[in-house]
Amino acid sequence: MRFYILGTGSAGCNTAFHLRSHHEVTLILRSQRALQDFHKRKNEITYQRANQTNSIKIGGFDTMVASHQILSNNLKNTMDVVIVTTKAQHVTEAVASIKPYLTRFSTLILLQNGMGVVKELIDSLWPGPEEQKNLPAIIRGVNNHATIRTKPFSVQHITGWDNPNYGYFLAAVPFIGTRSLFHDERQYYEQTNAVIQTFSDIPDLNTKKVDWQDLYERMMRKLVVNCSLNALSGILESTNGPMIENPYVVQLIRSICKECAEVLIEINTTTEDLYKVVEHTAYTASTSKTSTFQDILAKRLTEMEYINGYIVRLAKERNIPAPTNQLLLNLLHAKEHHIQAS
Ligand SMILES: NC(=O)c1ccc[n+]([C@@H]2O[C@H](COP(=O)([O-])OP(=O)(O)OC[C@H]3O[C@@H](n4cnc5c(N)ncnc54)[C@H](OP(=O)(O)O)[C@@H]3O)[C@@H](O)[C@H]2O)c1
Repeated sequence: MRFYILGTGSAGCNTAFHLRSHHEVTLILRSQRALQDFHKRKNEITYQRANQTNSIKIGGFDTMVASHQILSNNLKNTMDVVIVTTKAQHVTEAVASIKPYLTRFSTLILLQNGMGVVKELIDSLWPGPEEQKNLPAIIRGVNNHATIRTKPFSVQHITGWDNPNYGYFLAAVPFIGTRSLFHDERQYYEQTNAVIQTFSDIPDLNTKKVDWQDLYERMMRKLVVNCSLNALSGILESTNGPMIENPYVVQLIRSICKECAEVLIEINTTTEDLYKVVEHTAYTASTSKTSTFQDILAKRLTEMEYINGYIVRLAKERNIPAPTNQLLLNLLHAKEHHIQAS
């Protein structure tokens, strides 16, 4: 099985590094410039665990650039498994660049934080029954590895390789009616199971196969943690520890948890239950910078439309007020604009 990695930042390099010891891996780079940069680094990914001083390099990757023209010259075959590790707002554009090489025999693995990428992807790239004849199988994942990009193609693995509560949780996105023309349901699950099994066979990826309902609950709970901590960390430019000790921040987090408990009816939970999960995360990762804080420091646009933005849109659909989520979304967008993030 050949794996393609679309998005070679920290999550992509971490996954590519571990897969490469066992499988053929192709990195799909964003630009010619990124390709030249990778060549300068001898086509190697550098990996370091937070608890170790030495770093390890691994090479032997195939590469290509995520642009239609170049791909069509170089690639004749279908892509088997594509692991999409871009930020949520780049998923559709990135997958569009490789769409000619995706068929229903391909499998996409989506590992983004936040919610809404699967629907956006299908609505944009495979909108009708004709297109859906070639819709790839889709696996969604919760990524509970923590990784940081220290330099291009260099990743530091903070946590996630051993603790059973961390690592990857993967499930096949249900085979649904709108994709009925992809008619062999059994083949769909055989295909996705084989891919998840291959991930699970690599100990350092620390992958658990779960059913869709289990994954959905995990995604929702992670979403609430991200709704509570990410926007505030970006606005205040703070790590988690000081925020959870700040009574004004705690009041805002409780308000976010209340709105999420009301909007996310599927997980049937309470404000207090959600608050405990957020508080636990904030204390456990008290010195960590959320990805949103890191994006703000690097003047990059954040994933907020898929985090608080998702809750705001769902709340509108369900006619439930979510003013604190809306406020944090607006404030973070104001901050992105103020620092000219791009
Ligand atoms: N890092 C973690 O610890 C962690 C944990 C849990 C979940 N996640 C989730 O995983 C996802 C990725 O996070 P990350 O930290 O790895 O982000 P990242 O370091 O910013 O990496 C994203 C990569 O995608 C590339 N990219 C963007 N658009 C592209 C396109 N059109 N074609 C090809 N490549 C493209 C970017 O290129 P450039 O280098 O040119 O920007 C970058 O290399 C996010 O949704 C995040 O929330 C991350």
